[in-house]
Order: sequence, then structure tokens, then C-alpha cells
Amino acid sequence: MVKVNLGGCSSFVKDAEYNEYVEKALAALDTVENENGAGNDFLGWKHLPSETPDSLISECEAIRDEWKNKGIDLVVVIGIGGSYLGAKCAIEALSHSFAKQLSHKDGLEVVFAGHTLSEEYISELMDLMQERNAAAVVISKSGTTTEPAVAFRLIKQHIEEKYGREEAASRIVAVTDAKKGALRSLSTQEGYRTFVIEDNVGGRFSVLTPVGILPIVLAGFDMRAMLAGAKEMEKVCAERNAQNPAVEYAAMRNLLYDHGKAIEILVSFSPKLQYLGEWWKQLYGESEGKDGKGIFPASVIFTTDLHSMGQYIQEGKRILMETVVSVEKSNRSTVINNDPQNLDGLNFLSGKHVEECNAMAELGTRLAHIDGGVPQLNVSIEKIDEYNLGGLFYFFEKACGISGYILGVNPFNQPGVEAYKKNMFALLGKPGYEEQAKVLQERLK
Ligand code: PA5
Repeated sequence: MVKVNLGGCSSFVKDAEYNEYVEKALAALDTVENENGAGNDFLGWKHLPSETPDSLISECEAIRDEWKNKGIDLVVVIGIGGSYLGAKCAIEALSHSFAKQLSHKDGLEVVFAGHTLSEEYISELMDLMQERNAAAVVISKSGTTTEPAVAFRLIKQHIEEKYGREEAASRIVAVTDAKKGALRSLSTQEGYRTFVIEDNVGGRFSVLTPVGILPIVLAGFDMRAMLAGAKEMEKVCAERNAQNPAVEYAAMRNLLYDHGKAIEILVSFSPKLQYLGEWWKQLYGESEGKDGKGIFPASVIFTTDLHSMGQYIQEGKRILMETVVSVEKSNRSTVINNDPQNLDGLNFLSGKHVEECNAMAELGTRLAHIDGGVPQLNVSIEKIDEYNLGGLFYFFEKACGISGYILGVNPFNQPGVEAYKKNMFALLGKPGYEEQAKVLQERLK
């Protein structure tokens, strides 16, 4: 279960102020629960943990087993933004850190594409696909996003050339809108298996739909446990009280924002959670950064980044707050050995677990940063596993909806994402963008 501890903020805010923000958060919770706020047609994510049918997971498992039986050993998951970050986060967190280098490989290896227009990336991916026995999952809610569409065009051609068109159709699965978009019509025409992203779930809230479920199952992880963890938090985060962790987190970060803390850094002391930071940044950045408002979300991995960003966080401009995602227990056990020569002077650590050093680094850093003027919000989970990650996904989603309403924005739209797309289409000569192309060419002279 996800727990929130706000003790690291107590020297920065007064109790009375916090209570006022809790009231705002409870009102925002009502808006989410009663579905009467801006963007309320995008609240389909709220009951996914309790309403997702087991048959959906079984369907994904059947594809996984079929592909494994065929000897497929690589799945390219194509998507961008909300259509890849949740799965990437879960797979990175749950995989062995050296899965790629280990000689024993169990199951399908999942790699990602369509999240970049880098020619080198896609071309090097083709080298990999040439060597391996590959299948693809293409994910796009709109079915028209340029980055995944370009990647899919190339990957589709590769699979068709290598395995033939008929076989290709059994090696490609699409996750998209039920009716609309180029990907839907292409899938119908080519006879691909498809999964639907419901209209009422936005991309960044879609990790517990087939967008996340299919890649996570293909990678060999337990989606039932993830949904069970999310379901527990669905219940806890619906409770109308000041101990609801989503209410606590949303209230405090908004209070600190109003105290001038315009940047929130998500901190983890486990490199496995690097992509939790990426997923969280998209969730909060796209949900709150609008109408000239919003906390800027950043992320770091400590202790690694204490040797790069630590100086700024300790002593730079005092506009920062940190949210530390703590993991109570390590899944592995490594004890530091005694060295009779003690040339490195580290025998005071002999017999301690490496994780104990990490825990003391975490505690020491939190205290140092509080002393340096950086409030510390703490979100903790018991360990990194499917159950706890599912809980964390749901907790952050619910808190995001509440937080956006406290801030006074529609947390479920993303109008600003269109601006670069229009310019890119104009510059690439897409039909219909001729006038804008002329204007841009003038500006670029
Ligand atoms: O959260 C969002 O809505 C976006 O980040 C989308 O997920 C992203 O732009 C990809 O869109 P699509 O799935 O339509 O290709």
C-alpha cells in the first residue's frame, strides 16, 4: 500500500494553512468523484482496477504464449507519451537490471520504438530486428500520431518482408480507438488483432488499459497483481478524509506551490524507478502545465544524481520541493564484506547490507535538503513489485486529478501539445499546411 508522510514539510508550512489546503483537496476529490469538473468525460481510468475483466489479461497471455511457441523472442512496442511511458516504467522497474546481458533469457524481450524521430534509433532497431525473431505491438489512441506512425510504417515493412504478409498479420497487434483513426482502418484492412482504448481514458492515464497491460504481460509480469495493488488504492483514494494519501499529497504540493515552490523533483534511490520519474513527469506536466500555471515536474535518481544535481538542490534558487519515493525493502540481499587489510577504511560498513547504506543516504539527504530549504514530501511503498507499482500508478493518477482541480485547470486535456505538431507538419510539407509553411519559412529566413 502507498503511504504519504508530510513530516518533511512541517518546518515550511503552518498547520492552519495545510488544513485549508486539505479542505480544497477534499472539494477537488468531490469534483473527481461526482464527475462534475472540467474534462469529466476523461475519468474512465478511475474504476479500471476494479472493472477490468480477467478475460483481458487472459487474452494478452494467449498472445504471449502463442508468440513464444512460435519462437518469437523480441517484441517491439511502438508508442509515444502516454502510449508507452507506463509500460516502459513497469518493465524497467520489474526487470533484472542486466536482463540484456544475462545469458539466460526467459520469455520475450520488449523494446520500444515510436517515441522518437531519431533516424539512428530506428535504423539500429532494424539491425536488431534483422538478427532476432520479432513481433510488434503498435499503440496509438488517436491512431494518427506521427512518431509512432513513421516507426510502424518501417517496422511493418520489415516484418512483412522477412516473414510474408500473412504471417506478419499474426505478428502485429494494434491498440487503438474502437472506431476512429488511421491505425484502426489499417488494422481492419490488414486483419490485425486489436485492443481498444476507451474514449474516456486519456493517454497519460492509460497504463492500466491494454496500453500498459499488453506490453507488461508480454514482458512476463503479473498484471493481476498490478491490478490488485491498484484496486486497493482505488478504494483508499476514494475515501473522503484528510488521511486519504491522494488528498494529502495534492494538498501539500499545491500549498508549497503557492509558497513559491514552482518545481517538484521526484526522487528515487533506486535506478529501477528512473522511468517512474518519466511517467510521473508526463502525467503531471501534461495535466497541470497550462493557463500560465503549474508545478514544473523534474526527476532524479539518488545517490547517482547527488553527484550532479545535488549542489543545486542543496544551495541553488529556493524554488524546489522534493517528493521522495521510498522503497522500504530490497528484493535482493548483498552484505558488505570484511576486508582484513581495510585499505579503503570501509570496515565500519562490514556486515551491513548495501541497502542499509542506501537507506542512510536517503535519510541523510532528506535532512540535508530540509536544512537547505527544500521541503520533502514522502511517498513510500513496501517493495518494487507488480502489486506496489499498480498502487503507485493509481495513487499518482488520483492525486493528479485532485491536484489539477485545486490548481484550477482542466487536468485531462493537453491543448499545448498541438503547437509543435502544426509547425512540424507545415515544415514537412503536409497537405493542408501550405499557408503556415509560408509564414514559418519567412520567420526562418
Ligand atoms: O497523454 C496523452 O494524451 C499523450 O501523451 C498521448 O499519449 C501521446 O501524445 C500519444 O498519443 P496517441 O496515443 O494518440 O498516439
